[in-house]
Amino acid sequence: MSEHTPRWWDHAVGYEAYIRSFADGNDDGVGDFIGMLDKLDHLAWLGIDILWITPFYTSPMRDWGYDVADYTAVDPTYGTIHDFDAVVAKAHDLGIRVLIDIVPNHTSDQHRWFQEALADPTSPYRDYYIWVDPPEDGSLPNNWVGYFGGKTWTVDEASGQYYLHLFLPSQPDLNWRNPAVLDEFDNILRFWLDRGVDGFRIDVAQAMVKDAELRSNPQIGPSDDSMFRWEQWNAFDHQHDILQPESVDIFKRWNAIAAEYDALLLGETYDLHMLDKLDRLVSGGDAIDVGFWFGAMHMEWDAQQIRATFELPLNNISAGLGWAQNSHDEHRSVTRFGGGDLGRRRALSLSVLLLGLPGLPFLYQGEELGLESGTLPAEAKLDPVGGDDPNSGRDGTRTPVPWSDADGMGFTSAGVTPWLPFGGRTAADTAEVQRADPASPLHAHRELLAVRKTLSEIVDAPFEWIDTDVDSLVAFRRGNIAFVANVSSAAALAPVAGAVLYRSGAGEALELAADEAMIIRIEG
Ligand code: NOJ
Repeated sequence: MSEHTPRWWDHAVGYEAYIRSFADGNDDGVGDFIGMLDKLDHLAWLGIDILWITPFYTSPMRDWGYDVADYTAVDPTYGTIHDFDAVVAKAHDLGIRVLIDIVPNHTSDQHRWFQEALADPTSPYRDYYIWVDPPEDGSLPNNWVGYFGGKTWTVDEASGQYYLHLFLPSQPDLNWRNPAVLDEFDNILRFWLDRGVDGFRIDVAQAMVKDAELRSNPQIGPSDDSMFRWEQWNAFDHQHDILQPESVDIFKRWNAIAAEYDALLLGETYDLHMLDKLDRLVSGGDAIDVGFWFGAMHMEWDAQQIRATFELPLNNISAGLGWAQNSHDEHRSVTRFGGGDLGRRRALSLSVLLLGLPGLPFLYQGEELGLESGTLPAEAKLDPVGGDDPNSGRDGTRTPVPWSDADGMGFTSAGVTPWLPFGGRTAADTAEVQRADPASPLHAHRELLAVRKTLSEIVDAPFEWIDTDVDSLVAFRRGNIAFVANVSSAAALAPVAGAVLYRSGAGEALELAADEAMIIRIEG
Protein backbone atom coordinates (compact mmCIF):
# COMPACT_ATOMS: atom_id res chain seq x y z
CA MET A 1 0.00 0.00 0.00
CA SER A 2 1.27 3.43 -0.82
CA GLU A 3 1.29 6.21 1.78
CA HIS A 4 0.94 8.81 -0.92
CA THR A 5 -1.98 11.23 -0.50
CA PRO A 6 -3.48 11.73 -3.95
CA ARG A 7 -3.23 15.30 -5.28
CA TRP A 8 -4.73 16.71 -8.44
CA TRP A 9 -1.31 17.27 -10.03
CA ASP A 10 -0.08 13.70 -9.46
CA HIS A 11 -0.38 12.63 -13.08
CA ALA A 12 -0.57 16.03 -14.72
CA VAL A 13 1.52 17.59 -17.49
CA GLY A 14 2.29 21.29 -17.30
CA TYR A 15 3.03 23.93 -19.92
CA GLU A 16 4.88 27.20 -19.47
CA ALA A 17 3.50 30.19 -21.36
CA TYR A 18 5.93 33.10 -21.52
CA ILE A 19 3.15 35.61 -21.91
CA ARG A 20 5.13 38.24 -23.81
CA SER A 21 5.78 35.84 -26.64
CA PHE A 22 2.74 33.58 -26.52
CA ALA A 23 0.05 35.40 -28.52
CA ASP A 24 -0.74 39.06 -29.18
CA GLY A 25 -4.45 39.91 -29.11
CA ASN A 26 -4.30 43.70 -29.50
CA ASP A 27 -1.74 44.06 -32.27
CA ASP A 28 0.98 45.89 -30.39
CA GLY A 29 3.54 43.14 -31.04
CA VAL A 30 3.51 41.92 -27.43
CA GLY A 31 1.70 38.84 -26.15
CA ASP A 32 -1.24 39.40 -23.80
CA PHE A 33 -4.25 37.77 -22.14
CA ILE A 34 -6.63 38.36 -25.05
CA GLY A 35 -4.18 36.58 -27.35
CA MET A 36 -3.74 33.78 -24.82
CA LEU A 37 -7.49 33.27 -24.55
CA ASP A 38 -7.55 32.33 -28.20
CA LYS A 39 -4.82 29.74 -27.88
CA LEU A 40 -6.16 27.82 -24.90
CA ASP A 41 -7.91 25.44 -27.30
CA HIS A 42 -4.49 24.55 -28.68
CA LEU A 43 -3.33 23.58 -25.18
CA ALA A 44 -6.44 21.54 -24.50
CA TRP A 45 -6.06 19.77 -27.88
CA LEU A 46 -2.42 19.08 -27.04
CA GLY A 47 -3.44 17.44 -23.75
CA ILE A 48 -2.05 19.91 -21.21
CA ASP A 49 -3.39 19.83 -17.64
CA ILE A 50 -1.66 22.84 -16.08
CA LEU A 51 -0.81 26.22 -17.57
CA TRP A 52 1.92 28.27 -15.88
CA ILE A 53 1.79 31.92 -16.92
CA THR A 54 4.97 33.99 -16.46
CA PRO A 55 4.70 37.38 -14.64
CA PHE A 56 2.12 39.81 -16.00
CA TYR A 57 2.14 42.35 -13.17
CA THR A 58 2.85 46.06 -13.42
CA SER A 59 6.53 46.31 -14.21
CA PRO A 60 9.13 48.60 -15.76
CA MET A 61 10.21 45.45 -17.69
CA ARG A 62 13.92 45.66 -16.97
CA ASP A 63 13.77 41.88 -16.60
CA TRP A 64 10.60 41.51 -18.66
CA GLY A 65 8.21 41.26 -15.75
CA TYR A 66 10.42 39.50 -13.21
CA ASP A 67 10.78 42.99 -11.75
CA VAL A 68 7.38 43.57 -10.21
CA ALA A 69 6.17 47.07 -9.31
CA ASP A 70 2.71 45.98 -8.09
CA TYR A 71 1.91 42.36 -7.25
CA THR A 72 -1.84 42.70 -7.53
CA ALA A 73 -2.18 44.67 -10.75
CA VAL A 74 -1.99 43.53 -14.38
CA ASP A 75 0.45 45.51 -16.51
CA PRO A 76 -1.59 47.28 -19.23
CA THR A 77 0.69 45.69 -21.84
CA TYR A 78 -0.94 42.37 -21.01
CA GLY A 79 -4.51 43.60 -20.65
CA THR A 80 -6.80 44.05 -17.68
CA ILE A 81 -7.66 42.01 -14.64
CA HIS A 82 -10.88 41.06 -16.46
CA ASP A 83 -8.86 39.67 -19.36
CA PHE A 84 -6.92 37.67 -16.79
CA ASP A 85 -10.18 36.40 -15.27
CA ALA A 86 -11.38 35.39 -18.72
CA VAL A 87 -8.24 33.30 -19.29
CA VAL A 88 -8.64 31.56 -15.94
CA ALA A 89 -12.34 30.91 -16.58
CA LYS A 90 -11.81 29.48 -20.07
CA ALA A 91 -8.85 27.39 -18.97
CA HIS A 92 -10.99 25.91 -16.22
CA ASP A 93 -13.79 25.21 -18.71
CA LEU A 94 -11.26 23.30 -20.78
CA GLY A 95 -10.06 21.33 -17.77
CA ILE A 96 -6.77 23.23 -17.49
CA ARG A 97 -5.57 24.53 -14.12
CA VAL A 98 -3.70 27.81 -13.95
CA LEU A 99 -0.51 28.61 -12.05
CA ILE A 100 0.77 32.15 -11.89
CA ASP A 101 4.34 33.19 -11.33
CA ILE A 102 4.98 34.88 -8.00
CA VAL A 103 8.26 36.79 -7.64
CA PRO A 104 9.03 37.02 -3.91
CA ASN A 105 12.84 37.21 -3.84
CA HIS A 106 12.94 40.78 -5.10
CA THR A 107 10.75 43.62 -6.28
CA SER A 108 11.35 46.20 -8.95
CA ASP A 109 13.11 49.33 -7.73
CA GLN A 110 9.94 51.06 -8.93
CA HIS A 111 7.81 49.22 -6.38
CA ARG A 112 6.22 51.58 -3.87
CA TRP A 113 7.95 49.75 -1.01
CA PHE A 114 11.40 50.41 -2.43
CA GLN A 115 10.57 53.98 -3.39
CA GLU A 116 9.42 54.64 0.19
CA ALA A 117 12.52 52.90 1.54
CA LEU A 118 14.73 55.16 -0.56
CA ALA A 119 12.83 58.34 0.22
CA ASP A 120 12.90 57.83 3.97
CA PRO A 121 15.41 55.51 5.65
CA THR A 122 13.30 55.65 8.81
CA SER A 123 10.20 54.40 7.02
CA PRO A 124 8.94 50.90 7.91
CA TYR A 125 9.57 49.96 4.27
CA ARG A 126 13.32 50.42 4.67
CA ASP A 127 13.50 47.08 6.48
CA TYR A 128 11.57 45.37 3.64
CA TYR A 129 14.98 45.28 1.91
CA ILE A 130 18.51 44.39 2.96
CA TRP A 131 20.80 47.33 3.78
CA VAL A 132 24.38 47.39 4.98
CA ASP A 133 26.67 50.28 5.92
CA PRO A 134 29.74 50.38 3.72
CA PRO A 135 32.69 48.58 5.35
CA GLU A 136 35.41 51.03 6.48
CA ASP A 137 38.07 49.50 4.26
CA GLY A 138 36.06 50.44 1.18
CA SER A 139 35.26 46.82 0.29
CA LEU A 140 31.81 45.45 -0.50
CA PRO A 141 29.71 44.04 2.36
CA ASN A 142 30.51 40.46 1.28
CA ASN A 143 31.71 38.39 -1.69
CA TRP A 144 28.35 37.28 -3.07
CA VAL A 145 27.99 37.14 -6.84
CA GLY A 146 24.73 37.62 -8.67
CA TYR A 147 22.82 35.08 -10.74
CA PHE A 148 23.41 37.32 -13.74
CA GLY A 149 27.10 37.54 -12.90
CA GLY A 150 28.78 40.49 -11.19
CA LYS A 151 28.38 42.03 -7.78
CA THR A 152 25.25 41.97 -5.65
CA TRP A 153 25.62 45.28 -3.81
CA THR A 154 24.68 48.75 -5.04
CA VAL A 155 25.04 51.99 -3.10
CA ASP A 156 22.06 54.17 -2.38
CA GLU A 157 23.83 57.51 -2.82
CA ALA A 158 21.45 59.40 -0.53
CA SER A 159 22.08 57.28 2.57
CA GLY A 160 25.47 55.85 1.65
CA GLN A 161 24.20 52.33 2.46
CA TYR A 162 24.43 49.34 0.18
CA TYR A 163 21.35 47.32 -0.75
CA LEU A 164 21.43 43.70 -1.85
CA HIS A 165 20.30 42.35 -5.23
CA LEU A 166 20.98 38.82 -6.45
CA PHE A 167 19.82 39.93 -9.92
CA LEU A 168 19.86 43.40 -11.50
CA PRO A 169 20.48 46.52 -9.38
CA SER A 170 16.90 47.43 -10.34
CA GLN A 171 15.70 44.22 -8.59
CA PRO A 172 16.38 44.83 -4.87
CA ASP A 173 16.06 41.69 -2.72
CA LEU A 174 13.34 41.60 -0.11
CA ASN A 175 14.17 40.96 3.52
CA TRP A 176 12.34 37.75 4.35
CA ARG A 177 13.49 38.01 7.97
CA ASN A 178 11.05 40.91 8.37
CA PRO A 179 7.59 39.57 9.45
CA ALA A 180 5.90 42.46 7.62
CA VAL A 181 7.13 41.03 4.32
CA LEU A 182 5.55 37.70 5.17
CA ASP A 183 2.25 39.41 5.93
CA GLU A 184 2.34 41.28 2.62
CA PHE A 185 2.82 38.08 0.69
CA ASP A 186 0.10 36.22 2.58
CA ASN A 187 -2.27 38.87 1.27
CA ILE A 188 -0.85 38.72 -2.26
CA LEU A 189 -1.27 34.93 -2.39
CA ARG A 190 -4.83 35.18 -1.13
CA PHE A 191 -5.65 37.95 -3.61
CA TRP A 192 -4.88 35.64 -6.54
CA LEU A 193 -6.24 32.47 -4.94
CA ASP A 194 -9.52 34.28 -4.37
CA ARG A 195 -9.51 35.11 -8.08
CA GLY A 196 -9.38 31.43 -8.88
CA VAL A 197 -5.76 30.53 -9.61
CA ASP A 198 -4.77 26.96 -8.85
CA GLY A 199 -1.34 27.71 -7.49
CA PHE A 200 1.96 29.48 -7.94
CA ARG A 201 5.26 28.96 -9.60
CA ILE A 202 7.60 30.54 -7.07
CA ASP A 203 10.43 32.46 -8.67
CA VAL A 204 13.89 32.02 -7.08
CA ALA A 205 12.35 29.94 -4.29
CA GLN A 206 15.79 28.73 -3.25
CA ALA A 207 17.16 32.14 -2.37
CA MET A 208 14.48 34.17 -0.60
CA VAL A 209 16.04 33.98 2.86
CA LYS A 210 19.67 35.04 3.34
CA ASP A 211 22.14 34.35 6.12
CA ALA A 212 21.25 36.56 9.11
CA GLU A 213 24.84 37.85 9.27
CA LEU A 214 25.26 38.05 5.49
CA ARG A 215 28.51 36.08 5.70
CA SER A 216 30.70 35.66 2.62
CA ASN A 217 30.50 32.35 0.78
CA PRO A 218 33.57 30.08 0.70
CA GLN A 219 35.27 30.54 -2.68
CA ILE A 220 36.06 27.24 -4.39
CA GLY A 221 37.39 28.37 -7.75
CA PRO A 222 38.57 31.38 -9.73
CA SER A 223 35.95 34.04 -10.39
CA ASP A 224 35.90 37.32 -12.24
CA ASP A 225 33.23 39.41 -13.85
CA SER A 226 34.25 38.45 -17.39
CA MET A 227 33.23 34.83 -16.82
CA PHE A 228 29.98 33.27 -18.02
CA ARG A 229 27.37 33.82 -15.29
CA TRP A 230 27.05 30.18 -14.24
CA GLU A 231 30.84 29.70 -14.11
CA GLN A 232 31.11 32.71 -11.85
CA TRP A 233 28.26 31.42 -9.70
CA ASN A 234 29.84 27.97 -9.44
CA ALA A 235 33.12 29.43 -8.19
CA PHE A 236 31.47 29.72 -4.76
CA ASP A 237 30.02 27.31 -2.24
CA HIS A 238 26.64 28.95 -1.68
CA GLN A 239 26.36 28.35 2.04
CA HIS A 240 25.02 31.72 2.98
CA ASP A 241 23.07 33.28 0.14
CA ILE A 242 20.67 30.48 -0.79
CA LEU A 243 18.77 27.52 0.69
CA GLN A 244 18.76 28.81 4.25
CA PRO A 245 16.86 26.52 6.65
CA GLU A 246 14.43 29.29 7.64
CA SER A 247 12.91 29.29 4.16
CA VAL A 248 11.16 26.01 5.01
CA ASP A 249 9.05 27.89 7.57
CA ILE A 250 7.96 30.42 4.98
CA PHE A 251 6.84 27.71 2.59
CA LYS A 252 5.04 25.87 5.37
CA ARG A 253 3.12 29.05 6.01
CA TRP A 254 2.34 29.38 2.30
CA ASN A 255 1.42 25.72 2.11
CA ALA A 256 -1.18 26.20 4.85
CA ILE A 257 -2.72 29.03 2.83
CA ALA A 258 -2.54 27.05 -0.42
CA ALA A 259 -4.17 24.06 1.29
CA GLU A 260 -7.30 26.12 1.98
CA TYR A 261 -7.70 26.39 -1.80
CA ASP A 262 -6.26 22.99 -2.77
CA ALA A 263 -3.57 24.93 -4.62
CA LEU A 264 -0.14 23.83 -5.83
CA LEU A 265 3.17 25.44 -4.85
CA LEU A 266 5.71 24.81 -7.61
CA GLY A 267 9.16 26.09 -6.70
CA GLU A 268 11.86 27.36 -8.98
CA THR A 269 14.33 25.53 -6.76
CA TYR A 270 17.34 26.31 -8.93
CA ASP A 271 20.28 24.54 -7.40
CA LEU A 272 22.07 21.43 -8.60
CA HIS A 273 24.39 20.89 -5.65
CA MET A 274 22.87 21.09 -2.17
CA LEU A 275 20.45 18.21 -2.49
CA ASP A 276 19.89 17.76 1.24
CA LYS A 277 18.75 21.37 1.54
CA LEU A 278 16.49 21.06 -1.49
CA ASP A 279 15.03 17.90 -0.04
CA ARG A 280 13.96 19.79 3.07
CA LEU A 281 12.04 22.27 0.92
CA VAL A 282 10.05 19.80 -1.11
CA SER A 283 9.77 16.30 0.13
CA GLY A 284 7.86 16.80 3.38
CA GLY A 285 4.72 17.60 1.40
CA ASP A 286 4.05 20.52 3.75
CA ALA A 287 6.20 23.26 2.18
CA ILE A 288 6.87 23.46 -1.58
CA ASP A 289 4.79 20.74 -3.24
CA VAL A 290 6.93 20.36 -6.34
CA GLY A 291 10.45 21.68 -6.89
CA PHE A 292 11.89 21.95 -10.37
CA TRP A 293 15.04 19.97 -11.11
CA PHE A 294 17.03 21.81 -13.77
CA GLY A 295 19.63 19.20 -14.59
CA ALA A 296 18.07 18.39 -17.96
CA MET A 297 18.83 21.94 -19.12
CA HIS A 298 22.51 21.53 -18.38
CA MET A 299 23.41 18.13 -19.82
CA GLU A 300 24.61 16.80 -23.16
CA TRP A 301 22.88 14.16 -25.22
CA ASP A 302 24.87 11.38 -23.59
CA ALA A 303 23.45 8.28 -21.92
CA GLN A 304 25.70 8.50 -18.89
CA GLN A 305 24.94 12.17 -18.34
CA ILE A 306 21.22 11.58 -18.70
CA ARG A 307 21.30 8.76 -16.16
CA ALA A 308 23.35 10.86 -13.73
CA THR A 309 21.01 13.82 -14.21
CA PHE A 310 18.03 11.71 -13.17
CA GLU A 311 19.80 9.71 -10.51
CA LEU A 312 21.06 12.64 -8.47
CA PRO A 313 17.66 14.10 -7.52
CA LEU A 314 15.91 10.71 -7.47
CA ASN A 315 18.41 9.39 -4.93
CA ASN A 316 18.37 12.48 -2.77
CA ILE A 317 14.93 14.03 -2.98
CA SER A 318 12.26 11.63 -1.90
CA ALA A 319 9.21 13.32 -3.45
CA GLY A 320 7.97 16.38 -5.26
CA LEU A 321 10.20 16.72 -8.31
CA GLY A 322 9.35 18.80 -11.35
CA TRP A 323 11.07 18.13 -14.69
CA ALA A 324 11.70 20.35 -17.70
CA GLN A 325 14.18 20.44 -20.55
CA ASN A 326 13.25 23.98 -21.66
CA SER A 327 12.28 27.33 -20.22
CA HIS A 328 12.43 31.03 -21.01
CA ASP A 329 15.91 31.08 -19.42
CA GLU A 330 17.97 28.54 -21.39
CA HIS A 331 18.69 27.70 -25.00
CA ARG A 332 16.09 25.35 -26.40
CA SER A 333 16.97 21.69 -26.10
CA VAL A 334 16.60 21.04 -29.84
CA THR A 335 19.47 23.50 -30.34
CA ARG A 336 21.49 22.16 -27.42
CA PHE A 337 21.15 18.60 -28.70
CA GLY A 338 22.47 19.29 -32.19
CA GLY A 339 19.77 21.32 -33.93
CA GLY A 340 17.48 20.47 -36.85
CA ASP A 341 15.90 17.03 -37.16
CA LEU A 342 18.66 15.48 -35.07
CA GLY A 343 18.02 17.86 -32.17
CA ARG A 344 14.27 17.37 -32.57
CA ARG A 345 14.54 13.59 -32.39
CA ARG A 346 16.64 13.81 -29.26
CA ALA A 347 14.45 16.37 -27.50
CA LEU A 348 11.35 14.26 -28.16
CA SER A 349 13.08 11.18 -26.79
CA LEU A 350 14.05 13.10 -23.69
CA SER A 351 10.40 14.09 -23.30
CA VAL A 352 9.46 10.43 -23.30
CA LEU A 353 11.85 9.88 -20.41
CA LEU A 354 10.82 13.00 -18.47
CA LEU A 355 7.18 11.99 -18.77
CA GLY A 356 8.05 8.64 -17.22
CA LEU A 357 9.95 9.93 -14.21
CA PRO A 358 8.25 10.33 -10.84
CA GLY A 359 7.04 13.92 -10.61
CA LEU A 360 5.52 16.70 -12.63
CA PRO A 361 6.82 17.32 -16.17
CA PHE A 362 6.54 20.70 -17.89
CA LEU A 363 6.80 21.70 -21.54
CA TYR A 364 7.81 25.20 -22.55
CA GLN A 365 5.84 26.96 -25.28
CA GLY A 366 7.02 25.90 -28.72
CA GLU A 367 8.58 22.70 -27.41
CA GLU A 368 5.61 20.84 -28.87
CA LEU A 369 6.56 22.32 -32.25
CA GLY A 370 10.14 21.09 -32.00
CA LEU A 371 11.44 24.66 -32.11
CA GLU A 372 15.11 25.49 -32.01
CA SER A 373 16.23 28.69 -30.29
CA GLY A 374 15.41 31.62 -32.55
CA THR A 375 18.43 33.22 -34.22
CA LEU A 376 18.65 36.97 -33.85
CA PRO A 377 20.62 39.85 -35.32
CA ALA A 378 22.85 41.79 -32.89
CA GLU A 379 20.53 44.80 -32.79
CA ALA A 380 17.68 42.61 -31.50
CA LYS A 381 19.32 42.13 -28.10
CA LEU A 382 16.82 42.86 -25.30
CA ASP A 383 17.74 40.52 -22.47
CA PRO A 384 19.74 42.32 -19.78
CA VAL A 385 21.76 39.13 -19.30
CA GLY A 386 24.85 38.10 -21.26
CA GLY A 387 27.08 40.04 -23.62
CA ASP A 388 26.17 41.97 -26.76
CA ASP A 389 25.17 38.94 -28.80
CA PRO A 390 21.46 38.21 -28.37
CA ASN A 391 22.17 34.57 -29.19
CA SER A 392 24.33 34.24 -26.07
CA GLY A 393 21.58 35.37 -23.69
CA ARG A 394 17.95 34.38 -23.22
CA ASP A 395 16.37 36.20 -26.16
CA GLY A 396 16.70 33.18 -28.46
CA THR A 397 14.42 31.00 -26.37
CA ARG A 398 11.90 33.82 -25.99
CA THR A 399 11.07 34.61 -29.62
CA PRO A 400 7.32 34.70 -30.38
CA VAL A 401 5.48 31.43 -30.95
CA PRO A 402 4.92 30.85 -34.68
CA TRP A 403 1.24 29.94 -34.86
CA SER A 404 0.74 30.21 -38.62
CA ASP A 405 2.59 31.06 -41.80
CA ALA A 406 0.71 34.35 -42.24
CA ASP A 407 2.41 37.75 -42.05
CA GLY A 408 2.76 38.15 -38.25
CA MET A 409 2.97 34.36 -37.91
CA GLY A 410 -0.43 34.19 -36.23
CA PHE A 411 1.31 35.72 -33.18
CA THR A 412 0.34 39.22 -34.20
CA SER A 413 -1.29 40.89 -37.19
CA ALA A 414 0.22 41.59 -40.59
CA GLY A 415 2.52 44.59 -40.58
CA VAL A 416 3.04 44.64 -36.79
CA THR A 417 6.62 44.34 -35.56
CA PRO A 418 6.83 41.80 -32.74
CA TRP A 419 8.74 42.86 -29.59
CA LEU A 420 11.41 40.26 -30.45
CA PRO A 421 11.91 39.06 -34.03
CA PHE A 422 10.55 35.61 -34.90
CA GLY A 423 14.14 34.40 -35.13
CA GLY A 424 14.11 32.63 -38.49
CA ARG A 425 10.98 30.51 -38.26
CA THR A 426 9.69 28.73 -41.37
CA ALA A 427 6.22 27.51 -42.31
CA ALA A 428 7.18 24.04 -41.11
CA ASP A 429 7.71 25.43 -37.58
CA THR A 430 4.16 26.71 -37.26
CA ALA A 431 1.34 25.17 -35.26
CA GLU A 432 -1.05 25.48 -38.19
CA VAL A 433 1.14 23.60 -40.68
CA GLN A 434 2.08 20.98 -38.10
CA ARG A 435 -1.50 20.38 -37.10
CA ALA A 436 -2.24 19.35 -40.69
CA ASP A 437 0.72 16.97 -40.75
CA PRO A 438 0.35 13.78 -38.68
CA ALA A 439 4.12 13.24 -38.89
CA SER A 440 4.90 16.61 -37.26
CA PRO A 441 6.50 17.22 -33.85
CA LEU A 442 3.16 18.64 -32.72
CA HIS A 443 1.34 15.36 -33.37
CA ALA A 444 4.20 13.37 -31.85
CA HIS A 445 3.95 15.37 -28.63
CA ARG A 446 0.17 15.15 -28.57
CA GLU A 447 0.25 11.38 -28.99
CA LEU A 448 2.89 11.10 -26.27
CA LEU A 449 0.75 13.09 -23.83
CA ALA A 450 -2.32 11.03 -24.73
CA VAL A 451 -0.52 7.73 -24.14
CA ARG A 452 0.95 8.96 -20.88
CA LYS A 453 -2.49 10.04 -19.71
CA THR A 454 -3.63 6.40 -19.92
CA LEU A 455 -0.80 5.30 -17.61
CA SER A 456 -1.94 6.71 -14.27
CA GLU A 457 -0.76 3.46 -12.67
CA ILE A 458 2.79 4.88 -12.77
CA VAL A 459 1.97 7.44 -10.08
CA ASP A 460 2.32 4.92 -7.30
CA ALA A 461 4.83 2.64 -9.00
CA PRO A 462 8.43 2.87 -7.81
CA PHE A 463 11.17 4.05 -10.15
CA GLU A 464 13.62 1.27 -11.05
CA TRP A 465 16.48 1.30 -13.52
CA ILE A 466 16.41 -1.53 -16.05
CA ASP A 467 19.72 -3.34 -16.43
CA THR A 468 21.06 -3.41 -19.94
CA ASP A 469 24.38 -4.35 -21.53
CA VAL A 470 24.01 -1.57 -24.04
CA ASP A 471 25.69 1.54 -22.62
CA SER A 472 23.79 3.88 -24.88
CA LEU A 473 20.36 2.82 -23.61
CA VAL A 474 18.68 4.76 -20.83
CA ALA A 475 15.94 2.50 -19.49
CA PHE A 476 13.77 2.49 -16.41
CA ARG A 477 10.45 1.09 -15.33
CA ARG A 478 7.54 2.21 -13.22
CA GLY A 479 5.75 -1.00 -12.40
CA ASN A 480 5.13 -2.72 -15.70
CA ILE A 481 5.67 0.35 -17.81
CA ALA A 482 9.14 0.79 -19.28
CA PHE A 483 10.60 4.01 -20.66
CA VAL A 484 13.58 3.44 -22.92
CA ALA A 485 15.71 5.82 -24.98
CA ASN A 486 18.47 4.94 -27.41
CA VAL A 487 21.09 7.66 -26.96
CA SER A 488 23.11 6.60 -29.94
CA SER A 489 23.31 6.77 -33.72
CA ALA A 490 23.15 2.97 -33.97
CA ALA A 491 19.98 0.93 -33.67
CA ALA A 492 19.53 -1.06 -30.44
CA LEU A 493 17.13 -3.64 -29.10
CA ALA A 494 14.91 -2.72 -26.16
CA PRO A 495 16.00 -4.51 -22.96
CA VAL A 496 12.44 -5.65 -22.17
CA ALA A 497 9.75 -7.37 -24.18
CA GLY A 498 6.15 -6.27 -24.38
CA ALA A 499 3.66 -4.11 -26.19
CA VAL A 500 4.99 -0.85 -27.60
CA LEU A 501 2.59 1.86 -26.42
CA TYR A 502 4.47 4.80 -27.90
CA ARG A 503 7.53 5.30 -30.05
CA SER A 504 9.13 8.61 -30.93
CA GLY A 505 10.85 7.52 -34.14
CA ALA A 506 10.94 5.08 -37.01
CA GLY A 507 12.31 1.89 -35.49
CA GLU A 508 10.40 -1.34 -35.80
CA ALA A 509 8.98 -3.67 -33.19
CA LEU A 510 11.35 -3.73 -30.20
CA GLU A 511 14.26 -2.23 -32.11
CA LEU A 512 14.97 1.40 -31.34
CA ALA A 513 16.28 3.52 -34.20
CA ALA A 514 18.99 6.14 -33.59
CA ASP A 515 17.89 8.53 -30.83
CA GLU A 516 14.49 6.91 -30.60
CA ALA A 517 12.55 6.39 -27.36
CA MET A 518 9.69 4.06 -26.53
CA ILE A 519 7.14 3.33 -23.85
CA ILE A 520 6.59 -0.39 -23.46
CA ARG A 521 4.09 -2.34 -21.40
CA ILE A 522 6.29 -5.14 -20.12
CA GLU A 523 4.91 -8.61 -20.66
CA GLY A 524 6.08 -11.95 -19.43
C1 NOJ B 1 14.15 33.27 -12.71
C2 NOJ B 1 13.35 33.63 -13.92
O1 NOJ B 1 13.00 32.45 -14.59
C3 NOJ B 1 14.23 34.55 -14.74
O2 NOJ B 1 13.69 34.78 -16.02
C4 NOJ B 1 14.42 35.83 -13.97
O3 NOJ B 1 15.31 36.68 -14.67
C5 NOJ B 1 14.99 35.54 -12.59
N1 NOJ B 1 14.35 34.45 -11.93
C6 NOJ B 1 14.86 36.74 -11.70
O4 NOJ B 1 13.54 36.93 -11.34
